Amino acid sequence: MSRTLFIRTYGCQMNAYDSARMADALAPHGFASVERPEDADLVILNTCHIREKAAEKVYSDLGRLRRLRAERAAGGRELMIGVAGCVAQAEGRALLERAPFVDLVVGPQTYHRLPELVQRRLRSSGGVIDTDFPLESKFDRLPEETAAAPGISAFLTVQEGCDKFCTFCVVPYTRGAETSRPAGHVLAEARRLVRDGAREIVLLGQNVNAYHGESPDGGNPWSLARLIEALADLAGLERIRYTTSHPLDMSPDLIDAHATVTKLMPYLHLPVQSGSDAVLKAMNRRHAVDDYRRTVAALRRARPDLALSSDFIVGFPGETDADFELTLALVDEIGFAQAFSFKYSRRPGTPGALLGRQVPEPLKRERLALLQERLDRQADAFNRATVGRRLPVLLEREGRRPGQKVGRTPYLQAVHLDAPDVPLGMVVPVELVSARAHSLAGAIRPGPAPDEAVIAAAEAVA
Ligand code: 5AD
Ligand code: SF4
Repeated sequence: MSRTLFIRTYGCQMNAYDSARMADALAPHGFASVERPEDADLVILNTCHIREKAAEKVYSDLGRLRRLRAERAAGGRELMIGVAGCVAQAEGRALLERAPFVDLVVGPQTYHRLPELVQRRLRSSGGVIDTDFPLESKFDRLPEETAAAPGISAFLTVQEGCDKFCTFCVVPYTRGAETSRPAGHVLAEARRLVRDGAREIVLLGQNVNAYHGESPDGGNPWSLARLIEALADLAGLERIRYTTSHPLDMSPDLIDAHATVTKLMPYLHLPVQSGSDAVLKAMNRRHAVDDYRRTVAALRRARPDLALSSDFIVGFPGETDADFELTLALVDEIGFAQAFSFKYSRRPGTPGALLGRQVPEPLKRERLALLQERLDRQADAFNRATVGRRLPVLLEREGRRPGQKVGRTPYLQAVHLDAPDVPLGMVVPVELVSARAHSLAGAIRPGPAPDEAVIAAAEAVA
């Protein structure tokens, strides 16, 4: 039977990966993806529970879908509504109580069962739920072939879940215990992605650098560094990235990989959350600010041109003005090319929600504005400092104007350039000529190999 599917993705890159895999699971059952919910027989919201705002958004979207279904009913066409992802996992049956018109509720570890769930829903009179943490791994049950070709830059989940239990975070509850996919499976998926056109692979995990996957030859488990080294041998793969990392798991072999694996991009997302030891302790981050400084210094020794991005939370319970000042000082000291900052959001079921000394909302707002202003200034300065430099740019998509393409520098900066005769997927040497708020303009300038040019430029600055 031919049917249509629309998936709306909220939240992190892992949800983006999961949405693509849900489409893969449903494709053999006749579901073809469409661009708009209005055209779909099945609409799935793949949700995020990390902060209250993200979680609440689902309900307003569901309200819209309910109206769409009512309009549809007049024309005799049905609409099935599914909720997947971390809100589905966290709320389960409560979600069906609050939104009884939902047909399917499926967690992040069971979406390989979507085709069965659709069948079950067709036979039952109410919504169906599957939020198990099953023994089988979804990765072993999903089809190998993907329904849509990967982009030039493709996500690949290698690790999931988390055992760190930071006191603010829902991930250990929604995604479950930390697990790594066997290295052989990851390599096979990477080979298929490259075969189908990917030139960059972004290895994903909630705690990706805690990766310890079964070895293909039955030996000791592979670390993330070992996995990256093996991926670097894939012909046709130009770039490797990984996200998100915990500072505690930045092991010496992974830091070394930044020195030795040229395909590993000199850009790292390494969340620190706060610049205050007291706050880090209350957050159960299990490291001090000095540990972070030392890790960054080691990374910069390994790869002098490395740029960093980070996550910050302001207004964690007990955070004083002095603690917050320490965060601002750390930002000045380290220097970030990019960063994400959030007001602390009290999440049900996490230890942080029960702590006293919750910070009032207006104070959180004030601190967030101050921090964001400083981080924006740094990001802007970073972009402006790359103007005039020649960087290797991976061409990822067509631009708006004819002949224009959009690519990315090693630092994930989007660059617009004229390259009518160069195919997508090529890495070209580009001189950055101007910086705008969220993108740069560049021009192709041949010269010495881009990698050498990057290192030479970094050494000139150091
Ligand atoms: N409140 C605010 N921010 C949070 N994050 C995770 N949980 C919360 C919360 N309860 C942020 C952290 C994390 C990023 C993915 O989201 O900074 O690194
Ligand atoms: Fe959440 Fe902390 Fe685990 Fe990251 S390390 S997913 S912030 S519990």
